[in-house]
Amino acid sequence: MTRKRVLSGMRPTGRLHMGHLFGALDNWRKLQETYDCFFFIADWHALTTDYADPSKVKEFTTEVVLDWLAAGLDPKKATFFVQSRVAEHAELHLLFSMFTPLAWLERVPTYKEQREQITDKDLSTYGFLGYPLLQAADILIYKAHYVPVGVDQVPHVELTREVARRFNFLYANVLLEPEALLTEFPKIPGTDGRKMSKSYDNAIFLSDPPETVTAKIKPMITDPARQRRKDPGNPELCPVFDLHKVFTPEAERKGVIVPGCTSADIGCLDCKAILLKHALPVLTPVSERRTELAKDPDAVRAILDEGATRARAAAGQTLQDVKAAMRI
Ligand code: TRP
Ligand code: SF4
Repeated sequence: MTRKRVLSGMRPTGRLHMGHLFGALDNWRKLQETYDCFFFIADWHALTTDYADPSKVKEFTTEVVLDWLAAGLDPKKATFFVQSRVAEHAELHLLFSMFTPLAWLERVPTYKEQREQITDKDLSTYGFLGYPLLQAADILIYKAHYVPVGVDQVPHVELTREVARRFNFLYANVLLEPEALLTEFPKIPGTDGRKMSKSYDNAIFLSDPPETVTAKIKPMITDPARQRRKDPGNPELCPVFDLHKVFTPEAERKGVIVPGCTSADIGCLDCKAILLKHALPVLTPVSERRTELAKDPDAVRAILDEGATRARAAAGQTLQDVKAAMRI
C-alpha cells in the first residue's frame, strides 16, 4: 500500500523561532511518521517580494533547513528540497498561467491585503500576482493529498483546487484536488508579550543556546498587576503563563503556578525558574543538534541533493502527464 502524500513549504525568511516549532514543525514531525512527506523551501516565493534585494535568500535557506533538521525532521522519513532546484514547478506554473483567469488571482485575499500593507516594496509585479498560482504548481505537481498550512494559506489551497478542477475539465483527469490540513498554532507570545516574531525582536530562536533562552525569559513581561512581590496576579493575563501552557505539565500548572500566582505565594522569578526547568530540556537538544549540523555543511548539502533528486522524479512524472494532456 502506498502512503498518501503530504506537501508543504516555507519561505526562507530567516532563522525559525519557538512559534514555528510549536506550530508547523511539531506538526510536520508527526506527519512524517504516517505520510509520504515533501517539505521544501520556497525560495522563488521569497523573490516575489524581495526581488530588489535577494542577497539573503540563500543564507536564509540554509538557516531554515538547519532548523528543520534540528527540530527532528528526518531525511530518512521525508523528502526535503529547495524549490528552485526543481525547475518542473516553473514549467507547470507557466502552463497553468495559460488557462487561469486573471480575476481568480486578483481576488485572492492575501494579494489585496499585502498590496495595501507592504508599502516599502513595489508589488505591482507579474510575479507577485502569480504567487498563489506558483503555489498551486508546487502542490499539484506532487499530486499531494494534504497540505498542512496555517489558516492564512487556506485561500491558496482553495485556488489550487480550482486550478486542478479547471485543468481536469479542459484536458484530462490528471491532477488531484488537495485538502488543506489546518495547523493549530498555540499562542506563543514573544518576550514583550506581543506575538512572537523576528520583526518585533522578541523571539526565542531554535538556535538560541540555554544561556540565551534563560537571559530572554528572565526579564519577560508578566501580569502588570504584579508590581511588587506581594501583589497577587492573574496567570491568564501573563505571557509567561502562555509559555507554561506549552512546556509545563498541567498538574503543576494547576497545582503550583495558578494558586501560587493568584495568592502571591510565588514570585514571578520563581515562576520563570519553573518554566525554564521544563523548557530547557526541550529547547537545549534542538540548539545542540543545530550547532552540530551547522559544522557539517556537506551533510546538509547531501540531504538537499538527494531531496531534489527525489522531488524531480515525482514532479517529472506529473509534468509528463500534464503535457500529454495538453498535447504539447
Ligand atoms: N505561501 C506559503 C507561506 O507563505 C509558502 C508556500 C509556497 C507553500 N508554496 C507552498 C505552502 C506550497 C504550502 C504548499 O507560508
Ligand atoms: Fe506570570 Fe508566573 Fe508572575 Fe503569575 S507568577 S504573573 S504567571 S510570571
